[in-house]
Amino acid sequence: MIDRNLQYFKPHSYKIEKTFADEIYSSLNSNSKNIHSKYFYDKKGSELFEQICDLPEYYPTRTEIEILKNLKSDLSKYLNDSFRLVELGSGSSIKTRLILDIFAENQNKIEYFPIDISEILAESSELLQRDYQDLNITGIIDTYEGGLEFIEKYDDKNNLIIFLGSSFGNFIPNEGKNFLRKINSIMKNDDLFLIGLDLVKDKKILEDAYDDSQGITAKFNLNVLSRINDELDADFVLKNFEHFAKYNEKDQRVEMYLRSLVNQSVNVSKANLSLKLKQGELIHTEHSHKYKIPQIKELFNKTGFEIKQIWLDKNKHFALILVSKK
Ligand SMILES: C[S@@+](CC[C@H](N)C(=O)[O-])C[C@H]1O[C@@H](n2cnc3c(N)ncnc32)[C@H](O)[C@@H]1O
Repeated sequence: MIDRNLQYFKPHSYKIEKTFADEIYSSLNSNSKNIHSKYFYDKKGSELFEQICDLPEYYPTRTEIEILKNLKSDLSKYLNDSFRLVELGSGSSIKTRLILDIFAENQNKIEYFPIDISEILAESSELLQRDYQDLNITGIIDTYEGGLEFIEKYDDKNNLIIFLGSSFGNFIPNEGKNFLRKINSIMKNDDLFLIGLDLVKDKKILEDAYDDSQGITAKFNLNVLSRINDELDADFVLKNFEHFAKYNEKDQRVEMYLRSLVNQSVNVSKANLSLKLKQGELIHTEHSHKYKIPQIKELFNKTGFEIKQIWLDKNKHFALILVSKK
């Protein structure tokens, strides 16, 4: 408890730290090497992501903001004063402000439960508190799943759960469906879920968004190796790797990798791992799936949701979808 209007919970902090070494051991000690994208977000990684959001090539942030600015009267008709706002992967909580403004029209005292694996949650919550006087924040610093379990047990109040930034696109299809079922299972009958999804579009627009001309996305990608160096006592030499992003049209996703530029050995002491990488070998770091509207309808239909409304931007680059339990 920081003050009457601000408290934080870290329900599984020990588990998160322990699984970092365990997960890195198993994900790098395999033929198809990978590092889970949730590990991008240490302090530096979260700062770099904020810089990505401002890049001219990174259309998702400004496009989703454009939609959020326009959905005000539409969304408020689904809400009443019994709702609180819950956000998965809240990050800087900048977009959240547009939803909080809608809440503020109906409620004197707003409750906001951000859930994020990154400590950025504390910084963003303090900034929100400075700007919104009657805002009560309960921050949950945990994985999405840990946060949802916390919410499920918390109380009987209605939740509007939001999941912005197309972060859902990081899940491969089967895991994504299971995740939507998990959200569905913790929702009460009158709860609502608002999700932002990136749409299939021209390959050049997609690839530029994940490989910008200023090299910020490259820094963001490489930073995960610095994090492993710092936290797991490893000796990755960053100049021996390069950022690589490509759009896989068949699977409708941008894939991000770190490519080894030389034959090399790396030690990750705290994960008890001694790693050999060949020149040209790829470490997968992120999938970012893109969707078509009929696929979105099918996805929610199959996972127990009813679509209330879909909002698009003028170029049809991004979609916000409001759903309830069937
Ligand atoms: C792509 S950013 C999006 C941030 C913000 N919602 C936006 O739309 O700009 C993803 C956010 O989710 C958090 N995150 C990523 N994986 C997570 C996980 N498995 N559990 C909890 N938070 C996660 C990151 O720390 C980061 O703040």
